[in-house]
Amino acid sequence: MTDRYAVVWARTATEPIKMGHLVATDREMRFSYTPEFLERQEVAGLSLLLPPTLWQTRPFIHQATEILPLLPRLMALIPGKNVNNIQRRIYTGLLAKRPHPPAPGFETEWELLMLTGHNGIGHIDVFQDDRAALEFYGTKPESRKRIGSRSELWHFLKDQTHQESSNEALDILRLIGPTPSVGGQIPKLLVSIPDKNKWDGSVAAPGVRQVDGVPHTDVVMKIEDPQYQGITALEALCLEVHREWGLEVPRHWRASIDGLSVLAVERFDRTKDGNALPMESFFSVYATGQQQVRTTTDAEVEQLGSMILKLSEIVDIDAAQARAEVYRRFVLALLTGNGDLHLENLAFLGGPKNVRLAPVFDPAPMRAWDRHDLLSALPFYIDAKRGLAYSLARVGESFGLTNHGAMEILQNLMKMTKAYPERVLALKDVPEDTRKKLAARVKTLRAKLNAKS
Ligand SMILES: Nc1ncnc2c1ncn2[C@@H]1O[C@H](COP(=O)(O)OP(=O)(O)OP(=O)(O)O)[C@@H](O)[C@H]1O
Ligand SMILES: [Mg+2]
Repeated sequence: MTDRYAVVWARTATEPIKMGHLVATDREMRFSYTPEFLERQEVAGLSLLLPPTLWQTRPFIHQATEILPLLPRLMALIPGKNVNNIQRRIYTGLLAKRPHPPAPGFETEWELLMLTGHNGIGHIDVFQDDRAALEFYGTKPESRKRIGSRSELWHFLKDQTHQESSNEALDILRLIGPTPSVGGQIPKLLVSIPDKNKWDGSVAAPGVRQVDGVPHTDVVMKIEDPQYQGITALEALCLEVHREWGLEVPRHWRASIDGLSVLAVERFDRTKDGNALPMESFFSVYATGQQQVRTTTDAEVEQLGSMILKLSEIVDIDAAQARAEVYRRFVLALLTGNGDLHLENLAFLGGPKNVRLAPVFDPAPMRAWDRHDLLSALPFYIDAKRGLAYSLARVGESFGLTNHGAMEILQNLMKMTKAYPERVLALKDVPEDTRKKLAARVKTLRAKLNAKS
């Protein structure tokens, strides 16, 4: 493979600036900050673990592996490798039409990064060269046009058997373009929607602030996959449960469009004015620091607390607060039957001068489906003799809480979620079998937590 070159830019509150240069070979990825970026000390760098102030002009070298040929932060900008990923389907279709299509494997991933690596989640953009960057930033968000709920877009999203090269696919690129991409299992798009109480299902390109005088806000739009019927209703319920507990939860809207159930969650990596805030997943931070970490479940829950503590040595974060909150989210994930709280479902928001835990996202109770029926995506130590409640309190200690404090959180959360199984059972939009399975699994867990050891 020949060496590949690219440039990394950062969106700031005032203007985009060039952050650094990227070189990738089949063995390693090298990155270095530009001198002009180093002068802007307030702007977050490539990773919280690579603060420009500490790193300066030294090149950062990431050893390439099959799973992570590039730094995790950059991998997050490439559409995920699952069949449901809309961007991946469309863009690999486009690449295949080139006179010299890239070979499968890293060449394809790299070309995808060049096509989709900007205007995504967070403040980092990747381009082939500075010209491409300047051209991109010089173009206003695609047509201030609104895409109504009767548009071709929805037909396209509904039609699982479409051809990548279809006109509708190209329409999607044209209408919601430029090239946002979001990872994960559930098909989703980054768009903007009218900022109103009720959503009529109309969308516009991401970054559009107003259409015909109606203010718009940026959202992550999740489209219900028939394999996971009811997931949008369940995720919305769990967002509510987290909000009731006083956690920071983004606004969200549900709509049924042309028979598709859709959940739109307001983006917290954008300010009201549409400025980008840096966002980095726990996975990116954890795997940047430790090369042996490869997947989003390569950590024990108990290790998260120390990760945050270590991070607080190089960035400004209220570690005690962040640690206690991650513990609460972990317990709440157990009590809602989430089973999917992995390192990509927790993130940090903000730059090195002011980092905090990102608000709650992706709290979908995946245990409703047999193939995801896992107590916890991240392992933790269960003392079989002393029981689950005892073990959870011990986990709390790894987040800096006292055993008593952790037990109190657990008991409060138990009380608060007492009616949760009934609320699940009452969700009309979820198939009965799915509701019953989730409610039963949560009740079994509650019984275990109540059992005296
Ligand atoms: N409200 C939000 N604001 C900013 N970024 C978000 C928001 N919600 C999700 N994201 C980003 O989008 C990514 C994918 O979203 P999400 O985790 O909700 O779905 P998913 O990963 O496809 O679901 P699953 O984990 O079930 O596969 C997240 O990892 C996060 O980076
Ligand atoms: Mg997720």
